[in-house]
Amino acid sequence: MIALTDINSGSALCLRRSVLCVPAGNRRALEKTFSLDCDAVIFDLEDSVSLEMKGEARDNLRALFSRIDTPDTGGMRRERIVRINALSSAQAVACLGRADMADMDLVLAIAPDVVLIPKVEHVEDILAVADILTEAGAPDGLSLWAMIETPKGVLNAASIAGADRRVKALVVGLNDLRKATGVLPQPGRAYLVPWLMQVVLAARAHGIDVIDSVFNDFGDADGFDAECGEGRAMGFSGKMLIHPAQIAPANRHFGPSPEALSEARDIIQGFAEPQARMLNVINLNGKMVERLHLEEAEKLVALADLISERKTSA
Ligand code: COA
Ligand code: MG
Repeated sequence: MIALTDINSGSALCLRRSVLCVPAGNRRALEKTFSLDCDAVIFDLEDSVSLEMKGEARDNLRALFSRIDTPDTGGMRRERIVRINALSSAQAVACLGRADMADMDLVLAIAPDVVLIPKVEHVEDILAVADILTEAGAPDGLSLWAMIETPKGVLNAASIAGADRRVKALVVGLNDLRKATGVLPQPGRAYLVPWLMQVVLAARAHGIDVIDSVFNDFGDADGFDAECGEGRAMGFSGKMLIHPAQIAPANRHFGPSPEALSEARDIIQGFAEPQARMLNVINLNGKMVERLHLEEAEKLVALADLISERKTSA
């Protein structure tokens, strides 16, 4: 994965504008991911796979990962995430009484970049998975992401974000959260915004990324566009997607716009002038610009560089 250091948090800077979820039981869709221009793929073993298909879905991922870095898969490097089943699921309890070891065995065998844990409610839900990974000698680079999709998950988002050094992102799951709370799906998500912002704040307090929820109506391009714009304005790093048609708009909304990039380059240029070297604040075309804006500008340019680097390596 291409990674720079995030100037603000000190953690790795990654492209996570478009995070496509693909059911691991669907071989045709799995194959399709190789040709899609998303930043990250979630290979889902959880809710999009029926209980009867779980074993086949794991076999599909084993086969897919065995040839994932070969030239016939297009060679485009993107973050690979495996969403495991919830630790408390009936299946997991029936298996071992704790984590679903079949999923964990798969993760250890195929070595994705990230394990996405669904329905995280407490620090312990993270530690249970982190302990298994550490005991099994999983590399330090194997990260954890947590789905925040229950009322308790939202209430405990800050402690979950800081639960373990492997935690690198929170992902909001509104389908489950709406089901648990009774909040209706409405354009603008007015009644959900306080909870969404709580999750954004929790992630940012720990210097990690935060991914907005899926938008179910993949035929509604205008509605999706509007929700991407809102998510970007709320501070999300990117959006979890369910359909290839959602990739291009998500990349556009969560990537640096040409205007923002041009302004960022002006700011960097402004602070590079000899007379600005000792200054923490300058006048740029009638606007006050501080050194903190320089850090933001450098981050934006670094993200744009990551995007063009990924395009040229495709
Ligand atoms: N990842 C990769 N490819 C996908 C895809 C996905 N998430 N969703 C659809 N495609 C592919 C289809 O396989 C199809 O490919 P083809 O033209 O080669 O046959 C193409 O995109 C067009 O798909 P379309 O016919 O519009 O939709 P569909 O009926 O095949 O699938 C869904 C619709 C909703 C079932 C499917 O998009 C899906 O399963 N999405 C993910 C759901 C999920 O992960 N849910 C859990 C998280 S909330
Ligand atoms: Mg869910």
